[in-house]
Amino acid sequence: MLDKLKEIEKTALTALEAVRDEAALEGWRVAFLGRSSPLMQVFSGLGALSKEERPVVGQQANEVKKAIEAAFGSRSGEMRQAALERSLGGERLDVTLPGRRVPPGRLHPDTQILRELYRVFGEMGFQVYRSREVESDEYNFQLLNFPVGHPARDMQDTYFVEAEGRGDNPVLLRTHTSPGQIHAMREFAALDPHNPPPVRIVLPGMVYRYEQVDARHETQFDQLEGLAVGPGITFSDLKGTLADMARRLFGPQTRTRFRASFFPFTEPSAEYDIECFLCGGKGCAVCGGGWLEIGGCGMVHPVVLKNGGYDPERYTGFAFGLGPQRIAMLRYGISDIRYFWENDLRFLEQF
Ligand code: PHE
Repeated sequence: MLDKLKEIEKTALTALEAVRDEAALEGWRVAFLGRSSPLMQVFSGLGALSKEERPVVGQQANEVKKAIEAAFGSRSGEMRQAALERSLGGERLDVTLPGRRVPPGRLHPDTQILRELYRVFGEMGFQVYRSREVESDEYNFQLLNFPVGHPARDMQDTYFVEAEGRGDNPVLLRTHTSPGQIHAMREFAALDPHNPPPVRIVLPGMVYRYEQVDARHETQFDQLEGLAVGPGITFSDLKGTLADMARRLFGPQTRTRFRASFFPFTEPSAEYDIECFLCGGKGCAVCGGGWLEIGGCGMVHPVVLKNGGYDPERYTGFAFGLGPQRIAMLRYGISDIRYFWENDLRFLEQF
């Protein structure tokens, strides 16, 4: 009987080596572990054996059964793995490999600078106000004291969207965020036309100019405009606000400088520079003489106040414009403005 069991085990294991697919494996299982298999017949015949033989044969039969079952288990595991690999095109599945990292999204460097500016101006009481990118000549120029044919228009070469039939008021892409000053003042003044409320806003957004594109010029870039209107606002408020902005942005030591300039919508007007935060004002490859040009500013022209619905006899105000991308370029040492909107991941992933 014990020989017979050995024989059963040997036959079963040899037969298993020939098994190639699921169906054959199932056939093998029925033949060697099924109810009418020779092994099971040994089990059911145990009762007919003598008292001495019974435990010996029983134990041996159990061991053979275990061996056959174990062989079945590992063979079917192998076959499942093989099937999986086939479905993966021959790739091995290694469940211990660490997962592939999904790169997290990140904020564009320009967005990061803008948000920092919102925070800085927010702390000083300025709200963010957004206005349209497609403007009329009236808002982009005329209401800002650039009459039709005014030479100062040459400072801002313009993309026109629609001119036909619109006379002196063609539709255009805004060349600066300053038309937002008029939209904002008119909206605020409408709240109480006899007593317009004070204005403290920053206006961010994309602007468009017909430029020859190079490392320092793009046909689109963004600006952050600032506007404060109220009774008794002076040029020192403007200087204080911009000097404070520079200190909050670049540290308490940072100095600001104003140079007389001209814009039709401010009088007096100035350009303002910030002491280079890369070299601390000593002069370096980026700044040259230790100062960085940041933007234009000035006291809101009486004509502009009036166009916005604010009586220039009762109200004064200041305005400024700056280029967030300029600050980003300086801060991160970006040498070419064209990188910003190329959407090249090798650039974007650095921030
Ligand atoms: N709008 C001006 C420009 O784009 C900048 C500016 C804004 C100047 C506000 C003065 C006041 O060149």
